[in-house]
Amino acid sequence: MPDRLSSIRATLDSYGQGHLLAFWDELDEAHQAALLTQLHGIDFDQLQVLIETLVVRTQQAERPRDVEPAPYYAQEPGSTYDAGHYREVGEELLRAGKVAAFTVAGGQGTRLGWKGPKGAYPATVVTGSPLFRVFAEQILANQDRYGKTIRWYILTSPANDTPTRAFIQDNRCFGLDRRNIFMFPQATIPSIEAETGKLLLTDKGRVAVNPDGHGGSIKALVASGAIDAMLARGVEHISYFQVDNPLVKVIDPLFIGLHAAAPDSSGEMSSKMVRKTSPDEKVGIFCRADGKTIVIEYSDPPDELAQQRDDDGRLRFCAGSIAVHMLGVKFVKKLASGDDGFALPYHRAEKIVPYVDTKSAELIQPTQPNAVKMETLVFDALPLAESSIVYETSRIEEFAPIKNAQGNDSPATSHQLQSDRAGRWLEAHGVTVPRDADGHVSARIEISPLTALEPNDLAKLDLPDTIEPGQTIAL
Ligand code: UD1
Repeated sequence: MPDRLSSIRATLDSYGQGHLLAFWDELDEAHQAALLTQLHGIDFDQLQVLIETLVVRTQQAERPRDVEPAPYYAQEPGSTYDAGHYREVGEELLRAGKVAAFTVAGGQGTRLGWKGPKGAYPATVVTGSPLFRVFAEQILANQDRYGKTIRWYILTSPANDTPTRAFIQDNRCFGLDRRNIFMFPQATIPSIEAETGKLLLTDKGRVAVNPDGHGGSIKALVASGAIDAMLARGVEHISYFQVDNPLVKVIDPLFIGLHAAAPDSSGEMSSKMVRKTSPDEKVGIFCRADGKTIVIEYSDPPDELAQQRDDDGRLRFCAGSIAVHMLGVKFVKKLASGDDGFALPYHRAEKIVPYVDTKSAELIQPTQPNAVKMETLVFDALPLAESSIVYETSRIEEFAPIKNAQGNDSPATSHQLQSDRAGRWLEAHGVTVPRDADGHVSARIEISPLTALEPNDLAKLDLPDTIEPGQTIAL
C-alpha cells in the first residue's frame, strides 16, 4: 500500500488534484484500499486533455462545414422502396435467430427524479407496467412469432447494475428465460468541477464519477464478452434502443431488413427518425456531411440549422432522432478492437454534483449545475460506418419518451400518446374511440405487447364496439 499511495500521490500532485487525498488519514483500511483502486483506474493523462478542452476552454467538437439534411427512407405515401420485401428480409433474419435486442439503461435518470433504475419506472397507462416489462413482453411476443430466441442485452452503470439485476430477477425476468438476458455495466469517468477543473469527492473516500455516455455501450458490449457471445451464436444484428420510450418497437422487421439489405446500407449502423415537430424539439437531427450520416444534437436555443425552412415552410432539417439504431455485430467488434484504440469524442454537459468540500469537510448540495460531465454518444459512430441509412417511422406509433417529471416528455404526455396509439389501433378494427377537441383519445387504453405487437394482431380478439369517454381499458 505505501508504494501505491506514494505513486498516486505523485500523479495527483502533478495534475493539481492532490486534494483527493485530503481525508486519507481519516479513512479505515478498506476505504483507503477502495480509494487507491479507484484512483489507479483513472487515466489522468487523458483526463487532463479533456479538462483543458471541455472544462477550462469549453471547446465543443467542430461541426463540418457543408451540412445537408440526411436522405431517408420515407414513410408512405411517397415511399419508393418495397417495404414488403424488406420486412420479409427482416423476418427471415429473426427466424434464423440472427437478431438481439439491446437496451441502454446506464443513464442516471436525474431529470425524472426517479430513484431506482429507469427501467423500473411504472410507465404504462392502466397497469403501470415498468419499462423493462414492456420491452420483455415485446421480446416474448416476437420469440413466439418467429420461433427463435431473441437475446436481450441491457447496459447498466456501476451505480444501477445491482438494483437493475435485482429488479429483473424479482420480476422473474417477466417470463423470459434468465439465461437469455445479459446485463453489464458501462465505464465511468470523473465529473469535473466547472469553475476549477478539479475532480470532486462524493464522500471522503470516493471520487465523483458519471457513466461515460451511451457511446460507452460500444466498448462495454465488447469488454463484457457480449459481442463474442453473439458471434458464437450466429447473432449478426443488434436492435439498439433507449430505456425511456414505452412505445419503442423493440424488434422491427422492416427496419432490420432495410439495415441488412438496402442497397445503400453497409449493414453496419442504421437509424430511425421521426419528423421534428418544431425547431426546438429536443431531439438530435440526422444530417449528411462529407458523404457520411451524422447527428447534430439539440441545443438551447435551437441553432440556426434547426430553424431553416424550405420554400414551402417545412423544416429543412426535419429528421429527428428517436435514438433507435440497428448495429452490425461485426461493426461493433471492429470499432472497439481497432489497433489504434477506439475513442468516440467526448461532449460536455453541465450538471449538479453534490460533493465534500475538502477544506470544511462539509457535504455541499449545490442548487445550480456546478460540474461538467463528459460523455460519449453512440451516434458519433454513424460516420464510422461505410454507408449508413435513415428510416422514417411514425411518431404516434413509436415515440412517447418519459424523460422529465413534468411538461414535455413526461409521464403525462407519454400516457396520452400511449392511449392515442392504442385508440388508433382499435379504430382500425372498427371500434368507436372517444377523442377530445384536439384529436387526442379521451379514454385510458393500454394494449399489452402480449396481446398485439401491431394493429393486425387485434383481428383475433373480441373487441368492444365503443369505448366511452373517460373509460379505462386494458387489453
Ligand atoms: C436522447 C438523444 C437525442 C434523441 C433523444 C430521443 C443524447 C445526447 N440525445 O436525448 O439525440 O433525439 O434521446 O429521445 O443522447 N444512457 C446510458 N449511459 C449513459 C448515458 C445515457 O445508458 O452514460 C442511456 C440512458 O439510460 C437513456 C439514453 O441513454 O436510455 C438517453 O440518455 P439521455 O442522456 O437522457 O439523452 P436525451 O437527452 O434524453
